[in-house]
Amino acid sequence: MTKIKRIGVLTSGGDCAGLNAVVMSVVNAATKNGWEVYGIHDGTNGLTESPLSYEVLTRQNFSDTPWPRLAGSYLGSLNSGIKKESQAEAAVRFGEGVRKLGLDAVVVVGGDGSMNIVSNYCETAGVQMVGIPKTIDNDTPLTEFSVGFNTACQVCTNALDDLMTTARSHHRALILEVMGRDAGHLAMHSAIAGFADICLVPEIPYTLKGIINKLEEIKKSGRTSALIVVSEGVKTETGEAVTAAKNMVGEKINGGIGEYLSNLINANYHGFQTRVTKLGHVQRSGNPTSFDRGLAVVLGAEAVNLLANGHTNRMVGLKHGQVTSFALKDVVEAGTTGLDANSPYVKAARTIGMYVGEE
Ligand code: F6P
Repeated sequence: MTKIKRIGVLTSGGDCAGLNAVVMSVVNAATKNGWEVYGIHDGTNGLTESPLSYEVLTRQNFSDTPWPRLAGSYLGSLNSGIKKESQAEAAVRFGEGVRKLGLDAVVVVGGDGSMNIVSNYCETAGVQMVGIPKTIDNDTPLTEFSVGFNTACQVCTNALDDLMTTARSHHRALILEVMGRDAGHLAMHSAIAGFADICLVPEIPYTLKGIINKLEEIKKSGRTSALIVVSEGVKTETGEAVTAAKNMVGEKINGGIGEYLSNLINANYHGFQTRVTKLGHVQRSGNPTSFDRGLAVVLGAEAVNLLANGHTNRMVGLKHGQVTSFALKDVVEAGTTGLDANSPYVKAARTIGMYVGEE
C-alpha cells in the first residue's frame, strides 16, 4: 500500500449516538500522523454524486465544539436503501470520487449493511477501506458491541423507568416497542435493564397464551402493573410481518407490532388495560454514554493504527472485551448477528421470571 497522505471518513446507514466521537477520534489520530482527513458528506453520496460533497476536517472541527458529545452525524448519513441494480454503477462513481479527491483509504463508520455495500464498492473500485461498527441494533457481525448500542439501551431503559410510574398509577400493562430491525439485542438488553416482565424478540417464537399467563401470574401476585418490551421485528404468532409500509426501494419498514399486540391482549384478556409507546427515532438520539464515547475513541484510534501499519480491508471491533480487527470479507460473509436465543442475557431473563417467548 502507498504511504498514506490523505484519508476519507464517512458515516453510513442509520445514525446513532457516538458517530461524531468516532470521527473526532479518526481525525485526531490521523492528523497526528500528519495525514489530511476529508469528511465525506451523507454517507457514500458525497463521493458518488456530482458535485462531490466533502470538507477538510481538522482538530478544530471537534475541539471547542459540542459535536463529539452529541448524537447525530456531523457529516450526515445515508439510510435510504440503494437498489441492487444501481450498486455496480455507484461503485464505479465511488472509485472515481475517491481518486478525484486523492484519498489513499476510506474509513467507513457503518453497520452490517454498510460494511457489505461499501466494502463491495471498495473492492470493485480498488479502494482501501477500514470499517468501524456502529448501530443501535448491535447486529454488526463479529464485534461484541457496535458504537451507539449502549446509548440506545439507555434511552429505552429511561423510557421503561418513566413508563413504570404511570403503569402503576393506572394499573396498566404498558407496551414499549423498540427498534432493532430483525435483531432483538436492543429489546432484550433494555428489558433486562428496565426490569420488564415480558420481552419479545424476533429470534424467539412466542404465544399469546404465554403472554397472558405471565400477566395473570403478575396479577395474582398482587402487582397492579406490568411492562412489556417488544422488538419492532417481531411477527404475529403465526409468523406474518405486521407492517405494510415500504421504503423507496421496496424494503419493508418495521413498526406496528406493539399496537397489534395491544389489541390482541385487550381482546383476549381483561386483567390489565394496555397502552403502547412506540419509541421510534429518539432511540438514535441522546448524548452518547461514557461506554459509547470510550468505544468510539478506541475504535477510531485503532482504525487509524491499522492504516498506519499497512492493514486494510478490515473492520475494527471488540472480541472478549479486547480491541481487535476482523477481515471485512468475514464480516460480510457473516451477514447479520441476531440475538442468540441461548445467550446469557436470555437465560438470565428467563431465570428471573421474565416471559421471553416459547412455552
Ligand atoms: O438500523 C438502525 C435502525 O434504527 C433500525 O433499528 C430501524 O429499523 C431503522 O434503522 C429505521 O430506519 P429509518 O431511519 O430509515 O427509519
